[in-house]
Amino acid sequence: MLYIFAFIFIIFGLFLILWQASLLYVAIFGSPTVYANSKAVRDSLKLAKLKEGELIVDLGCGNANSLIIAAREFGSRGVGVEISPWCYLKAWWNVLVNGQVGRVKIIFGDFKKGEKYLKKADVVYLYLLNETLEKFEDWYFESISKKTRTVSLAFWFPHSKAVKTIETFNLRKKTKIYLYKK
Ligand SMILES: C[S@@+](CC[C@H](N)C(=O)[O-])C[C@H]1O[C@@H](n2cnc3c(N)ncnc32)[C@H](O)[C@@H]1O
Repeated sequence: MLYIFAFIFIIFGLFLILWQASLLYVAIFGSPTVYANSKAVRDSLKLAKLKEGELIVDLGCGNANSLIIAAREFGSRGVGVEISPWCYLKAWWNVLVNGQVGRVKIIFGDFKKGEKYLKKADVVYLYLLNETLEKFEDWYFESISKKTRTVSLAFWFPHSKAVKTIETFNLRKKTKIYLYKK
């Protein structure tokens, strides 16, 4: 009996360590894990004029909420890229319980793992810090095609000009969504 308790305790401990370590890692080296409100996601997808059958990519997809809303309410296909093991598992779980396995794919790793999907993306949704956007700005605009509409919630690319900006509410605060085209 004692062995069973010790086993459960160790598994639980490992799970907690994995969870906290992955959140700490992205907070230090990337954009921290803060999930956008559904309203802000919907407004972003409307600004991008996402249509049925189109491909949307979320770099740093977190819990995959944006891709699930896009698939369920806009009829799109989605690809998410996520570096945090915790968020990656959560994203897969959410995709599964929302019945979107056939439409939404989650890739584990750095943003650059999504490069081949960026080339085909109709829409890219981003919710990342300015510092993160600045770091990959050149690579990003080289990777997307001319047809891609990029929407960035709350943060902006420092060296590119948005073609349109609208206001929304996220985390109980007024904030902006920026639309970019190549
Ligand atoms: C602010 S959250 C946004 C989550 C989701 N897109 C949303 O709108 O709710 C940023 C996400 O980017 C992920 N992230 C940070 N750096 C990354 C990197 N280099 N490659 C892939 N994902 C990264 C984090 O783990 C986190 O889940």
